[in-house]
Amino acid sequence: MQRIYFDNAATTALDPQVLEAMLPFLTEKFGNPSSIYSYGRESKMGIEAARKSVAKILGTKPANIFFTSGGTESTNTAMSAAVRDLGVKHIITSPIEHHATLHTAEYYEKQGIKLSLVDILPSGHVDLESLKTLLSEGPQPVLVSLMHANNEIGNLLPIQEVGEICKAHNAYFHCDTVQTVGHYPLNFSELNVHFANGAGHKFHGPKGVGILYVSDEVQIKPMINGGGQERNMRAGTENLYGIVGFAKALEMATETYEQDSTHMRSLKQYMADQLTALIPGVTFNGDWQGESLYTVLNVSFPRTDKTEMLLMSLDMAGICVSGGSACSSGASIGSHVIRCLPNNNEVVPVRFSFCKHNTTNEIDSVINTLKNILG
Ligand SMILES: Cc1ncc(COP(=O)(O)O)c(C=O)c1O
Repeated sequence: MQRIYFDNAATTALDPQVLEAMLPFLTEKFGNPSSIYSYGRESKMGIEAARKSVAKILGTKPANIFFTSGGTESTNTAMSAAVRDLGVKHIITSPIEHHATLHTAEYYEKQGIKLSLVDILPSGHVDLESLKTLLSEGPQPVLVSLMHANNEIGNLLPIQEVGEICKAHNAYFHCDTVQTVGHYPLNFSELNVHFANGAGHKFHGPKGVGILYVSDEVQIKPMINGGGQERNMRAGTENLYGIVGFAKALEMATETYEQDSTHMRSLKQYMADQLTALIPGVTFNGDWQGESLYTVLNVSFPRTDKTEMLLMSLDMAGICVSGGSACSSGASIGSHVIRCLPNNNEVVPVRFSFCKHNTTNEIDSVINTLKNILG
């Protein structure tokens, strides 16, 4: 059975050219990057070239980029460092963050740190007035952790504006940029962000590798103690081939950003048009036609016996989509993001998320399958 993969916000397929760039570091260039002889030096060079390239693309210096195991670790590190090293006493986040953020914030709440959640508008956007109100309450210092793009509904945060609000209130700002690194041009040094993150597997790079951006404005202590790798910040022999793959994937995504984003934007619109025309009762979640990821279309189907089983029925037809974030996909508790939106009781939400390889033919095929399942 030919499968159709519309779950690219969960993860993407490794690009063959990325694999090609990684392969030498899985085979002949196997040296430990900390070794001083030639094998070690060539591995080290691979890592530092990757860091330089990633830093340049993201508008920062190599010294501000730390390689990690992915988005979750980077978020945990940023939030933990904010509490431990910057003395943060108050975390402000939103109820629609990724669990990497929410569960870390809840952990620190149990340790005595004040936790506040901003209001979410019916559009799914963060209410910036609510953010300003919370920022003016004590105690200080404050960490604001808000995601740049929501992985379930696609809404985009006005990152520049939020950075300025944080600056005006002397707050630290962590922005989870996992869904936008590799998908949008980003210049970290022009944004008032103290911490940001990325994960290679969201843009055709390998899994298990990510970045944490730490601005010059903050000084944090080592995240993992040990052998002093990552300039003493994250000890442990580096994920050499992952790091090389991350950089190659980001370079490729940057080179073809214009054409790829145009293609995916048109896929999203086409799918929305076809669903509206052919499937009765569908609605779309979030600000899908406005400030929204071009990769994500979150659709609500009216709740019926047939739509209750929709994810499973689609899977049986070879169509891979998700009901929420990857960790909760298929779980009966539903999505914590959709629960924050109005009119969420009588609907079944399905997230369709695209990559540059998807086609309108695939969309037609999914629509036909939906007609059969729901007809
Ligand atoms: C917005 C967002 N933040 C964080 C993560 C976690 O990233 P990782 O799976 O690389 O740990 C994800 C991945 O689903 C995500 O979409």
